[in-house]
Amino acid sequence: MIHPTDMMQDIEKVLISQEEISQKVAQVGAQLSQDYKGKNPLFVGILKGVVPFYAAMLQQITIPCQTDFMCISSYSGTQSTGHLAFRKDLDQSIAGRHVVILEDILDSGTTLYELMQILQSRGPASLKICTLLDKPTGRKKTIEADYCCFTIPGEFVVGYGLDYNEYYRNLPFVGVLKPQVYQDANG
Ligand code: IMP
Ligand code: MG
Repeated sequence: MIHPTDMMQDIEKVLISQEEISQKVAQVGAQLSQDYKGKNPLFVGILKGVVPFYAAMLQQITIPCQTDFMCISSYSGTQSTGHLAFRKDLDQSIAGRHVVILEDILDSGTTLYELMQILQSRGPASLKICTLLDKPTGRKKTIEADYCCFTIPGEFVVGYGLDYNEYYRNLPFVGVLKPQVYQDANG
């Protein structure tokens, strides 16, 4: 069961601290700013999990750039439903643009694999992936992030945008929940 007033009561351990995230995002942001200089990149955030990562990363980009968002969902609870639901598409054309997809986590790769096919067919000049987290042990599709902040073990994580049943997105770190949070929820 989710603690009604204190999220920290549900946390088993902090996997990546707020400080570690800030430092790494600054590094990757500097790299992106260098790699996309003069390319007028479009940073596409995948809602909703990307929100804290997107905001932090955007502030580390020192070159002119544009922003857009897509809303896709593929998960319910801790299990993949195996298919994507597109809830919001991009506001603009990406034909001829240098596009960087920002995503919270690359796990099975199903979401980004399907998304890459769709966006590639729209004719961008280039299309790359930047994720906060990479969980390589979960991979079911051949896909890798071009930019990744942290590689994590095959555990379900929450915080810094990542949710469990839409909760814990507001934690300022990436952590693991106590088993009882899931057990009680499943009866
Ligand atoms: P994939 O399609 O399996 O790569 O998963 C992508 C999506 O699944 C992410 O954007 C997340 O919303 C969700 N997801 C995967 N692993 C986790 C996790 O450990 N915690 C929370 N959400 C996750
Ligand atoms: Mg999610």
